Amino acid sequence: MTHQSTIKPLSVNDLALMKQQGEKISCLTAYDASFSALIDKVGIDVMLVGDSLGMVIQGHDTTLPVTISNMVYHTRCVSQARRRAFVIADMPFMSYCTPVIAAKNAAKLMQQGGAQMIKLEGSHVEVVSFLVNQGIPVCGHLGLLPQKINQLGRYKVQGRESTEAVQIIDDAHQLQQAGASLLVLECVPADLAREISMQLRIPVIGIGAGVNCDGQVLVLHDMLDIGILKRPRFSKNFMQEATTIESAIDAYHQAVKQSRFPTTEHSF
Ligand code: KIV
Repeated sequence: MTHQSTIKPLSVNDLALMKQQGEKISCLTAYDASFSALIDKVGIDVMLVGDSLGMVIQGHDTTLPVTISNMVYHTRCVSQARRRAFVIADMPFMSYCTPVIAAKNAAKLMQQGGAQMIKLEGSHVEVVSFLVNQGIPVCGHLGLLPQKINQLGRYKVQGRESTEAVQIIDDAHQLQQAGASLLVLECVPADLAREISMQLRIPVIGIGAGVNCDGQVLVLHDMLDIGILKRPRFSKNFMQEATTIESAIDAYHQAVKQSRFPTTEHSF
């Protein structure tokens, strides 16, 4: 007789329910099977196979060189090893420049990689709506968009000016209207993120966006302090007070669940 796990992966409905019930959603990036199993064991709700892997795994200084094959490979590694956590995969640079191209690439992440949802940067409402109509759950990503680094010039907080803030709020509503099920807000003032989280029906996951989002995400290598690049101000070294990697991840999980992270020190 084969042993069958009774634990089922969380679904998009479970995440929506968590927002409705005021339970914070914990999320970490993951790129391989060993970390996937460990993060899952701790009880983190969502694993994001981020294109940040271009920087923390591949050693590039931006996310731009990451390909769809890279993303499929790492998403498969992560999804195979998890039991409960919901798995989201990033659409890499230029993999969603038209609705049809986006659908073909998203299908690879789901069929070959085992992703339950894909994430794409920016307010590509037409692409999001097309994907959702094909049955592909979508997570939007607004605020700092790392794939636009060559236009931005440097990684910096977005939405400080009121015109920018109004644009981000409007984009967030449009993404929800187009059918996005989740939204990541990166590097925006905490007040703006709180406002968007309150206005939207869908869960908002913050990174450098203050404590009042519906959930938090960090790049694994930043919070374990094992990255080769400088840790951003909004992240925290959870290894500092931990004796094992597992206890550092657990400390992060508990801090998110109890709204103890991020503090003002990690917010804008
Ligand atoms: O690629 C990534 O890890 C991300 C997070 C920073 C949100 O998009």
